Amino acid sequence: MSKLYRFGVSLEKPLIDAFDRHIKRQNYKNRSEAIRDLIRSELVKKQWKEGGIVAGVIVMNYNHHKRELVSKMLDIQHDFQELIISTQHIHLTHHECLEIIAAKGKADEIEQLSNSLQSLVGVKHVSLSISAVGDGTF
Ligand code: NI
Repeated sequence: MSKLYRFGVSLEKPLIDAFDRHIKRQNYKNRSEAIRDLIRSELVKKQWKEGGIVAGVIVMNYNHHKRELVSKMLDIQHDFQELIISTQHIHLTHHECLEIIAAKGKADEIEQLSNSLQSLVGVKHVSLSISAVGDGTF
C-alpha cells in the first residue's frame, strides 16, 4: 500500500451534514474512505472523457425473437472483438435475454460499442458502467 497523506478540508455545516448522512447510507466507516472513492470516481470520469484505457461492463436486455437482432448483435460484437474480454448470456424469460459484456480498452471505443448495441431495434435497455484499469495511478 502506498504512503497515506493527510489534508484538511473546510466545508459549510449543511454540506458536511448532508455528506455524513450520505456516507452513512452508503455504509462507509469514515469520511476518508468516502472521499477516496469520490476522488477515484472523478479520476475515472476524467479518463473516460480523455479516451484513456478503462474497463467497462455493458448490460443489455433484448427480445431475441426480433428478426435478425441476434445476428446483428453478433456482427457488432465481432467488429469490436479486440475490446471484448468476455460475454455472458442469460435467458430471462421466453422472449427476453440478458447479455453482459465485459470490455477493456479506450473509453470512447467501449462507448461506441455500447451505443451501437443500444441503437438496434429490439434492444430494450442498455447500461454502461466504467471502471479504472491498473493500480499505477490511483
Ligand atoms: Ni436468451
